[in-house]
Amino acid sequence: MSDLAGNVTTKPAVLILLGPPGAGKGTQARKLEDQFGLVQLSTGDMLREAVANGTPAGLAAKSVMEAGGLVSDEIVLAILRDRLSAPDTKAGVILDGFPRTAGQAEALDSLLAYSGQNVTAAIAMEVDDEAMIARVAGRYTCAGCGEGYHDDFKQPAAAGACDKCGGTEFKRRADDNAETARNRLQAYHAQTAPLIAHYKALGKLEAIDAMASIDEVALGLGTIVTRVSSQ
Ligand code: AP5
Repeated sequence: MSDLAGNVTTKPAVLILLGPPGAGKGTQARKLEDQFGLVQLSTGDMLREAVANGTPAGLAAKSVMEAGGLVSDEIVLAILRDRLSAPDTKAGVILDGFPRTAGQAEALDSLLAYSGQNVTAAIAMEVDDEAMIARVAGRYTCAGCGEGYHDDFKQPAAAGACDKCGGTEFKRRADDNAETARNRLQAYHAQTAPLIAHYKALGKLEAIDAMASIDEVALGLGTIVTRVSSQ
């Protein structure tokens, strides 16, 4: 990977973005990809693709995702294991939405150990629950390239056209309604938030105020990533 100054660093980073729905994990992961040459691995995106393709994993995951619960570790790990073995991930990865349970965190350590790697840092994106519901409810993405937007906080520069690819089709997620978002938030607090203490105990935890603007959060994350990947 390369740092903010464009210098190439040799150690491939394994970064985890930890945060509730709407914290900005996807938004910031895409920025870190551009800045540092890392690869975003979003288990949410992988599962939505499996659902769209009607694979056995997708069929099993669909109703759980629509209800705002967590898909089984078995299904998620099978999908992630395949993706992590692809050659493009060797430059370093940003895990967006994974791990989400203690079992997934443990399995990640085993997967990485197999290739002589370990977690570089887990970055907790600290946010306010109520604001997260508003962020999720106003979200939409470009149907062509997946660039994320928001009704109030981030609109395309030219109305109706994606900033990144110029596409004019946009879509909203089936689970982006207030009721499902509350269930997702509940699942986060019950099963994922405990991972913050887990990574703190391992000396791997970093934190950022993710209530700031998208650009301010990106700046803060860039500083953290530069520091942890040179340690
Ligand atoms: P997933 O797709 O991972 O959804 P999530 O974790 O609920 O996170 P979101 O994608 O909703 O939010 P985000 O943090 O990426 O925010 P974003 O950047 O888009 O998972 C979906 C489902 O799949 C789960 O519910 C579960 O069922 C299943 N699943 C996935 N992974 C799993 C796993 N490992 N194990 C088990 N099940 C799994 O930002 C949101 C909006 O806010 C955007 O519109 C953006 O423009 C805006 N925004 C972002 N940052 C800011 C800011 N700083 N200020 C103002 N607006 C902002």
